[in-house]
Amino acid sequence: MLLSIGMRPSPHLGLNYILAVRVNVNHCVMDKPRILSGVQPTGTPHLGNYLGAIRNWVIQQTQYDNYFFIADLHAITVPHDPTTLAENTYRLAALYLACGLDLNCTTIFVQSHVSAHAELAWLLNCITPLNWLERMIQFKEKALKQGENVSIGLLDYPVLQAADILLYQADQVPVGEDQKQHLELTRDIAARFNFQYASEEKPILKVPEPLIQTEGARIMSLTDGTRKMSKSDPSELSRINLLDSPDEIRKKIKRCKTDPVRGLAFDDPERPECQNLLTLYQLLSGQTKAAVAADCADMGWGQFKPLLADTVVAALAPIQSKCHELMRDRTHLENVLKTGREQAAAIANTTLAQVRHALGYAPPR
Ligand code: TYM
Repeated sequence: MLLSIGMRPSPHLGLNYILAVRVNVNHCVMDKPRILSGVQPTGTPHLGNYLGAIRNWVIQQTQYDNYFFIADLHAITVPHDPTTLAENTYRLAALYLACGLDLNCTTIFVQSHVSAHAELAWLLNCITPLNWLERMIQFKEKALKQGENVSIGLLDYPVLQAADILLYQADQVPVGEDQKQHLELTRDIAARFNFQYASEEKPILKVPEPLIQTEGARIMSLTDGTRKMSKSDPSELSRINLLDSPDEIRKKIKRCKTDPVRGLAFDDPERPECQNLLTLYQLLSGQTKAAVAADCADMGWGQFKPLLADTVVAALAPIQSKCHELMRDRTHLENVLKTGREQAAAIANTTLAQVRHALGYAPPR
């Protein structure tokens, strides 16, 4: 059952947007497994974020009860620019919608708008052994880049991520491969909390499963096929951002690293760039791996690169134009995020109250 609380014609978009509140006694929603995931509003998302995460959320959204958020508390665990944080947050919300997330089956919200995330992170901090965090690969990699300036927030990043997930009792968490270790830690934290403060028969926190696709789970840098595409790579040429212009996309693909071998093939460990570029082409053109392998087997880079560039430009064009339209209607985005906050907070606060009770806190009156 869907209860629509507002239908507003948008003069800019010429569409009716339905801000729908999903009622949790609704059988459609209740019967579906719940999934939750997020992206940090640091810069513009790139093809790795899209193919490893957002695109999969969109494809699978009718099968799940979906919660997708903008991880703005995580975004300040490394030095950030306060003058762009709010704009990046709205742009990411616009991109979620432009990529195809549908508010009829998906809740979109901002992490910092639901204070339960920070509060549960603190409570979980107090049951998480320090050495669990010190061995996180992403912490070690990011800490190396920060030198003397590593914050407690960076070390604590995975506990906040665990809080994000556990607050919503998520069944599955759709992410790229780089988040696997953080999800294992989330599972360990949930199990430890249940063991210490609940019982096996009546666990308080659901232990979630990772949902990692086989294709696109690790999109690599355009300048080095052995490193993942990343927002923190100092070279802009290493990634294609979702809002790059056609000229920028063509330039980046023209200059991307390749190899001197004639003919293109998947699955050759000696040719990581070839594997990555074929994967981009396959996923963005919507073809099967077998079809791409057959079509490209005899191609040289001179023929393949313009084909890939055209495919990327064509795949991103509708997302970009929709995103630009949405960015012109700030009130609509604010309403989407307000509705999302209300829906998210209702669930998050219920879990938080159970955790507080289990830890022995007197309830606020
Ligand atoms: P972020 O913004 O770094 O990444 C967002 C999503 O993009 C995926 N991803 C990739 N996938 C394939 N190839 C790549 N090169 C690539 N780079 C990034 C990430 O795996 C992720 O799914 N820690 C999260 C944000 C977060 C979160 C959560 C996710 C905070 N709390 C709770 C799930 C559940 C992150 O990596 O953000």
